[in-house]
Amino acid sequence: MESLLRSLDEKKLKNLLIYNKVNSCPEMKSLAEDLFSLQMEFSDKILAMKISKLNSEIDCEFDSLVGGDVKTNELIKNYNLLKEPKKPVRIYMDGVFDIIHSGHFNAIRQSKKLGDILVVGVNSDEEVEKSKGPTLMNGKERVALARACKWVDEVIEDTPYTPTVELLDKLNIDYCAHGDDMPTNSQGIGCYDEIKKAGRLKIFKRTEGISTTEIIGRLLMFTKESDRNNHNFENLPKTSSEFVKEIITDAESQDFNKGPVMSSFLSTGWRMIEFCNYKTPKPEDKIVYLDGAFDILHIGHIEMLKKAKEYGDFLYVGIHDDQVVHSYLGKNCPILNLQERVFNLLALKDVDDVVIGAPLKITEDLIRSLKINIVLCVKKTHHQIQKNPEKILVYDDPYEVPKSLGIYQEINYEFDLNNEILVQRILQKRKEYVKKYINKSQKEEIYYKKEKAYIEEI
Ligand code: CTP
Repeated sequence: MESLLRSLDEKKLKNLLIYNKVNSCPEMKSLAEDLFSLQMEFSDKILAMKISKLNSEIDCEFDSLVGGDVKTNELIKNYNLLKEPKKPVRIYMDGVFDIIHSGHFNAIRQSKKLGDILVVGVNSDEEVEKSKGPTLMNGKERVALARACKWVDEVIEDTPYTPTVELLDKLNIDYCAHGDDMPTNSQGIGCYDEIKKAGRLKIFKRTEGISTTEIIGRLLMFTKESDRNNHNFENLPKTSSEFVKEIITDAESQDFNKGPVMSSFLSTGWRMIEFCNYKTPKPEDKIVYLDGAFDILHIGHIEMLKKAKEYGDFLYVGIHDDQVVHSYLGKNCPILNLQERVFNLLALKDVDDVVIGAPLKITEDLIRSLKINIVLCVKKTHHQIQKNPEKILVYDDPYEVPKSLGIYQEINYEFDLNNEILVQRILQKRKEYVKKYINKSQKEEIYYKKEKAYIEEI
């Protein structure tokens, strides 16, 4: 018996100890028995999903433990450690997070799983300018977005592009985390070499198919006058290489012939489950609904969502599909496709759940099904709709029903930031952005082609 116990690792021993504890407590024991017998017929589908996911995780853990190559002494040491309270593991994950996207959020999500407390460092404008070129969003805007992410516990502003062991110690960090695409600094030295040497680097899988560079490529499309207004929407989303052909002049195109070919971000069911909140409103909750395009996320969206959440207890965000957004924003909008926008919203602290491909005209059916108490309308969105009257073919007032039910409320939008403004920023430094785009696209192409050690997404 003792040798069998010795062959178990910390996790399995812990499970056994928990099992013993549950068995020695009559209330817990009967709850565990009920859980076992009820599992298949829960009326609460979210709870059923949660339990089934945990169950399959536990199954995997048990399977992988049987017959493992175990170092006895280490296990005994681990067993003894179990008796002492565990110090939370602090992870440091840093980045530029310019035009934050689902790849960044997936990176943040994976980093959080590597420890207990996630500290996110946002590189300063000066540091990024030196190493990568200009950012589209300034430090304050990038920090607001990192702070809004639900997996982030602490944010450190204005961090260096090359973090050091000294910085980790100062912040009381155990490990630093980075994707498997290791950057080099302006002197050509690996940014994470020192930390790696100290054995304090954890690497997670970079998310394929989406990057700031690719989004800048899509935005650069806006900057070519002849492409404005006549972009063929049916062809969206395009790959980077296709965009490259369209945005670059003949002289520049030489550098682009070997442009990267990337697919869009993959929104698999598994990833969706990892991003979702497993949350439904409680009967007594005041339910708020806010809808919109939520294209490239910016500080204005974050402030708007924070305000919306203050109106109640549970916030549903309705996200219009690509066709609907195009019908009222026109031009090349949306820049991000529906899936990319859904993942962004699900990564935010203030969003409890989303309605994927929400109708532009809010129906009574939607209000009754989701038991919505307040429908919010951001004045600016309404204004944008009126700006393109010829595009609105079917609906005159999307908020007619909530108005008639007396549950409609307007909120003000104070931030003057949208795709157009981002494009203005690009136009001011178009040459630098094109140069940065060429540079980064080539690096991405190398990354995608390179033989890499297999890293499983966690
Ligand atoms: N990251 C990722 N998947 C992506 C993009 C970024 O996992 N598709 C990770 C990076 O590996 C890094 C973190 O997100 O650990 C922050 O990345 P950032 O410094 O913002 O820059 P890039 O890696 O250059 O990201 P992008 O190409 O989107 O600018």
